[in-house]
Amino acid sequence: MLVVVVFGASGDLARRKTYPALFALYRRKYLPEDFRIFGYARSELTQEELNAKLMPFLKKHAITQGDQELLGRFLGRCEYISGSYNSPSGYVALKEKIEALPTEDTGHEYDHVRLFYLALPPSVFTEVATQIKSVLYNDRYQNRLIVEKPFGRDLESSNALSQALAPLFQEDELYRIDHYLGKEMVKNIMTIRFSNLFFNAVWNRDCIANVQIVFKETLGVEGRGGYFDEFGIIRDVMQNHLLQMLTVVAMERPATLDAEDVRNEKVKVLRCIRPLHRDEVILGQYRGSADGSHAGYLDDETIPSNSNTPTFAMATLFVENERWSGVPFVLRCGKALNEQKAEIRIQFTNVPGCLFPNAARNELVIRVQPNEAVYMKLMVKRPGFDSQPIVSDLDLSYADRYVGLHIPEAYEALILDALRGDRSNFVRADELQNAWRIFTPLLKEIEERHSIPAEYPYGSRGPAAADERLKELGFLRHGLE
Ligand code: BG6
Repeated sequence: MLVVVVFGASGDLARRKTYPALFALYRRKYLPEDFRIFGYARSELTQEELNAKLMPFLKKHAITQGDQELLGRFLGRCEYISGSYNSPSGYVALKEKIEALPTEDTGHEYDHVRLFYLALPPSVFTEVATQIKSVLYNDRYQNRLIVEKPFGRDLESSNALSQALAPLFQEDELYRIDHYLGKEMVKNIMTIRFSNLFFNAVWNRDCIANVQIVFKETLGVEGRGGYFDEFGIIRDVMQNHLLQMLTVVAMERPATLDAEDVRNEKVKVLRCIRPLHRDEVILGQYRGSADGSHAGYLDDETIPSNSNTPTFAMATLFVENERWSGVPFVLRCGKALNEQKAEIRIQFTNVPGCLFPNAARNELVIRVQPNEAVYMKLMVKRPGFDSQPIVSDLDLSYADRYVGLHIPEAYEALILDALRGDRSNFVRADELQNAWRIFTPLLKEIEERHSIPAEYPYGSRGPAAADERLKELGFLRHGLE
């Protein structure tokens, strides 16, 4: 029987993401009828009390009367156990419950899967993984450990964490989540690149002028700044989510779609990027909004009033290989900005000897969220007697084209991959190590020099210096994006 154990079951990640994703999979019949989910955490709670905490998030997936019944059945397969993370007694109680489950083969492909999901802060990763290995691990089953960032705060601490986990779980039992790799449009990048002849042919430094990878959020920390202030925007999203998107855009075609082939190619890209330094990035921190309706970062009660933690960062990276040498990859991310979006914008070079002096560059945009889309900016003749070219869009918006089709949430997609044993969208140890290699010198310089980030108003485009840099690089050709 499929057994899933969610450690940190009463916490935010489990409530918002893990349980709802499991229910969404059950509702769509991606889980077998027979399975058990054990929640484990320190809080003394009954299953009913846990259900009450989960309900607001589960309800989003329970729309019809039929869904309500399914939700009841799903919760009937969930059991909560409270126990400490560092002493074995709770794990032993959990083991007894798991061992009391029926063991007969139902013939389902997940019959032998034991998924241990660590929805926990990294400070307890190692002790929980140690207890899992000594008490719960059973080599008659396929044991899989799902962990989630932050994987350390620099190369050294990340390596220490990897070294602590390595003797406990084999690399092929470890599933490190970067949830951006589970997003539909990020998964789509490989399909777009490697199954369309016309993209394949122009995907190189001769035809691509630059690549921009953008992550913008409209909210600031809004009273939940404890974690963020310790980590900052570079560790929170740039070193992982944005860099992962870069690797998928830049990687060579893998020999096959096998996880090791895919991740080998991603690692090669990372190895071609040299470490970043302070003068190559623009940092920002938001202040109150111009109309006074939103407080600034330093006014937030969870943030120390002298914090220099960046809430905005823009960095330019180069992949020094034959395909990409000289092409800037601009990663731009921030909180409390003017819009909510994540996208990849590939700007092509000018047409050599173009007949139309006003022609703008072509762009391919992969909009990750919201409103998933792929669109091309093309030059067409302005309709009428004129021969002036104008910029127009070839627009594939998913909501219009695939009406009614379910676009899975990142966590649904990733948990299903973990059940299936497909690791291609999970981060391998050497990817992680290389990501930290690129960002650690920069982070050290920022912290040692007490770098003061540029200010920008809540709800704006970010620090003026970032737009100036984009203009200098010639990226703002279609106006402000
Ligand atoms: C998380 C970051 O990894 O990603 C958050 O810690 C950020 O700060 C979030 O808000 C964004 O994820 P999504 O899926 O909402 O774009």
